[in-house]
Amino acid sequence: MKARLDQIRKQVAEQIRNCDTTEKLNEMKVGVLGKKGELTNLLKSLKDYAPEERPQIGQLVNETRAEIEKLIEEHRVNMEKTLREAKMKAEVIDVTLPAKKTELGHRHPNTIVLEEVERIFIGMGYEVVEGPEVEKDYYNFEALNIPADHPAKDEQDTFYITGDILLRTQTSGAQIHEMEKGKLPIRMLAPGRVFRSDEVDATHSPCFHQIEGLVIDRDITFADLKGTLAEFARELFGEQTKVKFRPHHFPFTEPSAEMDVSCFKCGGSGCRFCKGSGWIEILGCGMVHPHVLEMSHIDPEVYTGFAFGVGLERITLLKYEIDDMRLLYENDIRFLKQF
Ligand code: DAH
Repeated sequence: MKARLDQIRKQVAEQIRNCDTTEKLNEMKVGVLGKKGELTNLLKSLKDYAPEERPQIGQLVNETRAEIEKLIEEHRVNMEKTLREAKMKAEVIDVTLPAKKTELGHRHPNTIVLEEVERIFIGMGYEVVEGPEVEKDYYNFEALNIPADHPAKDEQDTFYITGDILLRTQTSGAQIHEMEKGKLPIRMLAPGRVFRSDEVDATHSPCFHQIEGLVIDRDITFADLKGTLAEFARELFGEQTKVKFRPHHFPFTEPSAEMDVSCFKCGGSGCRFCKGSGWIEILGCGMVHPHVLEMSHIDPEVYTGFAFGVGLERITLLKYEIDDMRLLYENDIRFLKQF
């Protein structure tokens, strides 16, 4: 009997060592010590032994049972400890690892300037709208008082899609769309892309941006135009900025003008930046031509208005003293990171 018990103890010790999960260990424990286990069977067979032998054998069985229980519990504790340590090891945070660099995006300089311009005009009660980039000849030219044989049509080298449909060469068509809505008065700002078949160089691109402005109301005069655009220039370039209007010609405005701002680099005394003149041209403007109003079904005897068109890139280049327009389109991170 003693030999049998030793054998069981050895076998079970081996089985215990092979258990690598709590579930397997529990299963094994039931197998060995449970009602159908071998030790229980041995106890049951006590009755086959002589009465004087029974206490001794019983004690041996119980000792073995206690030993096995002890082994199982020890193994359980060890196993749980190993599992816990492995888990902790796997979850450890290495504080010496260099952190991942999170790159923050930057707004494009054009976007920064556009948002600033929008902010200024929204503050004066303007609504920001968008016209279509693919446009009918009518909106890009005809309704803006540029008929088929007008020389201004050749000035803006146009990308035609069909004979009548084109990529807009100016945002001015947005004026017509706005007037056609039939809602007056109008205070509109229409920024967007325009297209001209120009060669790329430091000051030209086949695709650039304009910001169109239009005001239509009763009693709008050139004084309103001057006051509005002078205020715009002061907000954009600084309180000390002076403006000057030079007569010009645009088919859709009469009278028309170009607006210069005093050079924000030299203050007007003349420098390399303003090519010695002290002034920098920033936009075209004028009183909306009565014929343009009529074509869009607005009575020029009752309503008057002014319009203006700003080249966004031009302002961005000036504001940030960038000397080559191509930098705005190349998306070189080293350039964009500076804004
Ligand atoms: N559309 C003109 C251009 O592309 C710019 C312009 C001038 C717009 C005068 C206007 C304006 O609204 O009144 O050259």
